[in-house]
Amino acid sequence: MSKFMEWVDARFPATKMWEDHLSKYYAPKNFNVLYFFGSLALLVLVNQILTGIWLTMSFEPSAEGAFASVEYIMRDVEYGWIIRYLHSTGASAFFVVVYLHMFRGILYGSYQKPRELVWIFGMMIYLALMAEAFMGYLLPWGQMSYWGAQVIISLFGAIPVIGADLTQWIRGDYLISGITLNRFFALHVIALPIVILGLVVLHILALHEVGSNNPMGVDIKKTKNEAGVPLDGIPFHPYYTVKDIVGVVVFLFVFCAIVFFFPEMGGYFLEKPNFEAANAFKTPEHIAPVWYFTPYYAILRAVPDKLLGVIAMGAAIAVLFVLPWLDRSPVKSMRYKGWMSKIALVLFCISFVILGVLGVLSPTPERTLVSRICTAIYFGYFILMPFYTKLEKTKVVPQRVDG
Ligand code: HEM
Repeated sequence: MSKFMEWVDARFPATKMWEDHLSKYYAPKNFNVLYFFGSLALLVLVNQILTGIWLTMSFEPSAEGAFASVEYIMRDVEYGWIIRYLHSTGASAFFVVVYLHMFRGILYGSYQKPRELVWIFGMMIYLALMAEAFMGYLLPWGQMSYWGAQVIISLFGAIPVIGADLTQWIRGDYLISGITLNRFFALHVIALPIVILGLVVLHILALHEVGSNNPMGVDIKKTKNEAGVPLDGIPFHPYYTVKDIVGVVVFLFVFCAIVFFFPEMGGYFLEKPNFEAANAFKTPEHIAPVWYFTPYYAILRAVPDKLLGVIAMGAAIAVLFVLPWLDRSPVKSMRYKGWMSKIALVLFCISFVILGVLGVLSPTPERTLVSRICTAIYFGYFILMPFYTKLEKTKVVPQRVDG
């Protein structure tokens, strides 16, 4: 084996990569449960790619055949039902895991210097993931696939001058048709997965260049032994590879319970109108996107003007990109920030969840008022951040990790 590795290493940096990224990558020893979600995101990504490949083998990307081919997968293809449910549940699981992963980053200030690029690559993954999920949702060609896409694509029509041409260019037709389905299929199956995989590699390379943050926000590289090893660091392999298995097992218990017993999740993972084939002449009573888009959908609806609504929705995502430059706190972790940051984060999380709930429901005047208040809190959190993070009194961060 060692002779073989010598041969490989003389031609390809296999051992070097193993050491740089696993056996000699020193991660802080105080990672907590919130640090499981990065590796879980990788797991879900692999699940989506594998189940996606097998779905593609029996799926027919045409307006005439798509809906029936999904039914065929569910009833006739051997184990087709489980492959489909693993993929559809995996889509929602991806967003659960990624939202918790982002929350961890915000809680511990992991986007702050020197990890700005880790965050930016993460945000690019998030954008690509949203596009991937949106396009995947059109493929089964159900009522909600069709009308959801209709609502979202028509938003581009609000853009002045180029709006009408742009929507036609996206659809490739005067209305959503088999041509739209075909291009979404190509993007969902090939283009975006490649982009996402490439971005994940960049994300991890950027992280390993600067090293991981931790729940205390202590810079472990400041205290090293004579050999240059951080005193508060432990090799990622075997310590965290083994620890991550615990997270994987717990995750798989929950994930499999959903796949086997609640794959529709009461209409939140697979919406009820999508069990009926797309019909361009019959609008569903109530059109709502899947739960992971609903906070932004609520922001869109909170603004009375269509164009301004689209701008607000875009800004709600865009503002996350500049987060590293909005936070001017001298400390990273929420543990050492002042009371203003803590209250701001609690309000932000509550309003994000309320917006998510409101985005599922049909609008009433009261709900619109609440969504406006939550939209104001959402943006207030970011716009005021340079001020409250600078003004508040912070606690002293210890030199060493104590946990
Ligand atoms: C496919 C999606 C993603 C995958 C597979 C992924 C994977 C990972 C992995 C394996 C780590 C190292 C382990 C850990 O710290 O948990 C990590 C760290 C990190 N990720 Fe992601 N990530 C994804 C999406 C995102 C997104 C959307 C963001 C934010 C916008 C983000 C921000 C971060 C940050 C800030 C860190 C460093 C955390 C720290 O050192 O404390 N990631 N990611």
